[in-house]
Amino acid sequence: MKRKRIAVLGSTGSIGVNTLRVIADHGDRFEVAALTAYKNTALLEEQIRRFLPKHVAMAAGDIARFSKEFGRVKFYDAARDMAEIAALKGIDIVVIAVTGAAALAPFLAAARAGKIIAPANKEALVMAGDILMAEVRRNAAVVIPVDSEQSAIFQCLEGRNRQDVRQVHLTASGGPLRDVPRAEHDRFTVKDILAHPRWQMGAKITVDSATMMNKGFEVIEAQRLFGLSIGQINVLVHPEAVVHSMVEFTDGTVLAQLGVTDMRLPIQYALTYPERIASGTPRLDLAAGGSLNFARPDLERFPSLALAYEAARIAGTAPAVLNAADEVAVEAFLQGRMRFTAIHAVVEQVLLQHRNIRKPLLSDIEQADARARVRAAEYIERLA
Ligand SMILES: NC(=O)c1ccc[n+]([C@@H]2O[C@H](COP(=O)([O-])OP(=O)(O)OC[C@H]3O[C@@H](n4cnc5c(N)ncnc54)[C@H](OP(=O)(O)O)[C@@H]3O)[C@@H](O)[C@H]2O)c1
Repeated sequence: MKRKRIAVLGSTGSIGVNTLRVIADHGDRFEVAALTAYKNTALLEEQIRRFLPKHVAMAAGDIARFSKEFGRVKFYDAARDMAEIAALKGIDIVVIAVTGAAALAPFLAAARAGKIIAPANKEALVMAGDILMAEVRRNAAVVIPVDSEQSAIFQCLEGRNRQDVRQVHLTASGGPLRDVPRAEHDRFTVKDILAHPRWQMGAKITVDSATMMNKGFEVIEAQRLFGLSIGQINVLVHPEAVVHSMVEFTDGTVLAQLGVTDMRLPIQYALTYPERIASGTPRLDLAAGGSLNFARPDLERFPSLALAYEAARIAGTAPAVLNAADEVAVEAFLQGRMRFTAIHAVVEQVLLQHRNIRKPLLSDIEQADARARVRAAEYIERLA
């Protein structure tokens, strides 16, 4: 069997490391053609030695040293060249596991090059999902989502007629503040927030899970990936995180995808699709797990989710502004420059100031993103 050649963008992050675990477990099926990292050079060095990629992107300052050490590897500047890597001829699947807006250019390049794209990153789809999906269709690229909720929907929709879908139910574990009244949210430190009860993830998405902005992003991501209207996407809080999402059909039937909380499952399925093969994950034991609970989200406790729905309804450049302001605000919270509930305040302020463009070009989105970042930074300064 010819091995599939994989590019892992963001190989030093939580999803990147799990992707490499899946690849290592199935060395007969996959090989690593390219890796990209940013600042974690120590881990990148280990990964190059172990997986022998031909192409590697990293922060520009370290390239000279690495080039001396690894003569056979071609090195690229991660801040500039991830799109070039995503479009390389010798690559079959591009796993997009970088955080934030940095994923936009490589996603677009992979779509234009007609690749199989396995996005864990949701921010690129939030910013410019309509443009990205149009490029995917135009160039016969294929998107197989890695984000566990989108993977669940993708799996429930397989072989189904899209006209038969009434709505999808996106599940949310609710994060560490699920049962905490809003008035007490600011008591939580960065350390408390980063201790997510169900999933081990990078810092940005863990904070977004605590505000539930992450679920808001997923609402927009699902809308773009599956061509749904916002009214067709319902969020359900499900603390056990066993049901990864569900699709309800017009006859009232609901299909769900269940599994253990281990990202290797959706990652592996994206790499082997449409095949299913044994994985190294533990099996789901429903009898041992007790009961499964579902509830509607409390939008007063989690106003960021309401804000995301609002941005999705406005559409145009509003979701990109939502994403950019959130990225700046979360970074400020992580650096200890502001309290937790200020994240929502910053994003709300920036959205209020935004003048929307309804049918944006990519350049409109990039400008809206840049302006939102400046406004968010200014607002954070004023708060301080
Ligand atoms: N973790 C999960 O379970 C999970 C689940 C679903 C979806 N996702 C989504 O998947 C994406 C990755 O999440 P994660 O938790 O794996 O994040 P993470 O652990 O923070 O890893 C981020 C990766 O991106 C790289 N990176 C960061 N900024 C970059 C930049 N400006 N340019 C190039 N590379 C950059 C990092 O490199 P260095 O570390 O070398 O600096 C690292 O390899 C996010 O969009 C997230 O929403 C994650």
